[in-house]
Amino acid sequence: MALQWRRRDRDRGGAEFNHDAANDEVQVRKTAKKIVKMPDGNWIAISVPDNRRFQYDTKVFTAREFVDFYSSLERRDWLDWSQDVIPIDGNTIIARWYADEEEDAKNLQRLGSHDGAKRGDIPFGIYKAENSHWGVKLSPMSINQDKYIDLLSETTRDLLADIEAFISSNDKFKALNLLHKRGLLLYGSPGTGKTMLINHIIERYKHMAHVIFIESDEIFISNFHDYKEILQDKLTIFVIEEITNFLQPKVFDEMLPHFDAMPQILTFLDGQDSWDNMLLLATTNYPERIPMNLIDRPSRFDRIIRIDQPDELVRRKYLETVLDNGMVTQEVLDKTKGMSIAHLKEMCVQVKMQNKPVLDVIKEMEDRKAEIGRFFMPNNKETGVGSGTLFT
Ligand SMILES: Nc1ncnc2c1ncn2[C@@H]1O[C@H](COP(=O)(O)OP(=O)(O)OP(=O)(O)O)[C@@H](O)[C@H]1O
Ligand SMILES: [Mg+2]
Repeated sequence: MALQWRRRDRDRGGAEFNHDAANDEVQVRKTAKKIVKMPDGNWIAISVPDNRRFQYDTKVFTAREFVDFYSSLERRDWLDWSQDVIPIDGNTIIARWYADEEEDAKNLQRLGSHDGAKRGDIPFGIYKAENSHWGVKLSPMSINQDKYIDLLSETTRDLLADIEAFISSNDKFKALNLLHKRGLLLYGSPGTGKTMLINHIIERYKHMAHVIFIESDEIFISNFHDYKEILQDKLTIFVIEEITNFLQPKVFDEMLPHFDAMPQILTFLDGQDSWDNMLLLATTNYPERIPMNLIDRPSRFDRIIRIDQPDELVRRKYLETVLDNGMVTQEVLDKTKGMSIAHLKEMCVQVKMQNKPVLDVIKEMEDRKAEIGRFFMPNNKETGVGSGTLFT
């Protein structure tokens, strides 16, 4: 039995696991870590491979050394172990697992892999996925943002219609023996409304779906496995903002290999980890960084949608909604060409807050843009899509 474990930090210690009910084994995937629940259920055995050692802060130990050291600590903040940590051999320790905190118990319940959770235990709504002692934990969250305005852009309409059609066509997918899943990638310059659009979609469907924001690139997608059974008979909407953050290999620490989320993302989108009844909404400012096998392959991302800078129609709609009638002249529309919606918003805020004429504010924003070009751009390699296209 090759048990493996490495400390990361309090919140991540032993966090990523899958439960194999047949063997009552909890397996940690992709991370070369394995935790096994001992027969009385309270004990876990933890070991490191021969060539690795336990680590605490910067110190490195064998199991026995570690236990001695750990027992001598005044404040034992590691996994809430108090006294029951026993070395088995040079590479293995067993420890009593305290799950007496209410919060932990709840999380244990949520994880369907353990005794408690049943279908329907997790209400529809919006959740943030976080690492915890118990694997991936879903914490309810709400979204705070400006009021959504339907900006009448074709792309938006098309996207909303696509999603509506997808969601209502579960039966058709089933009839074709296809997994009911769809992946959509929104890309475009900063401030063009991608996040607003996604949040609008979420607001629309949150009463009939589990929406899960995957915010940390250290969440292992395959560890959603535990939720798959529980959630996938209803619609799950996954949101990954700035997906390129997930594509850069991570160095966890000096003793573990680089972690590359890419293989996980591939099997999640179109492989053994794929879900049924799933919609994935992802965004990026950096489409050029996304590998071809992720995008040039429907059924991973079925559609790739560019969210452009607002055209005249969209600018008019936005400005007329936010500013007073009469302020939105043709000159204003012309001079705001190339601005993102975020820029338009800032312009409106300045006009309203300081009672300034619209054209004066536009002039100030142009000056600021010129200043950014002069002082920030030469050194700034992270300019993203459409850099230099503002205020053209
Ligand atoms: N449809 C909309 N209705 C109202 N406001 C909007 C809309 N779209 C964008 N905005 C405004 O523009 C701002 C920026 O939009 P958003 O955050 O969605 O851009 P983004 O494309 O996600 O940017 P980034 O790529 O930098 O994440 C929002 O905070 C909001 O004020
Ligand atoms: Mg955004």
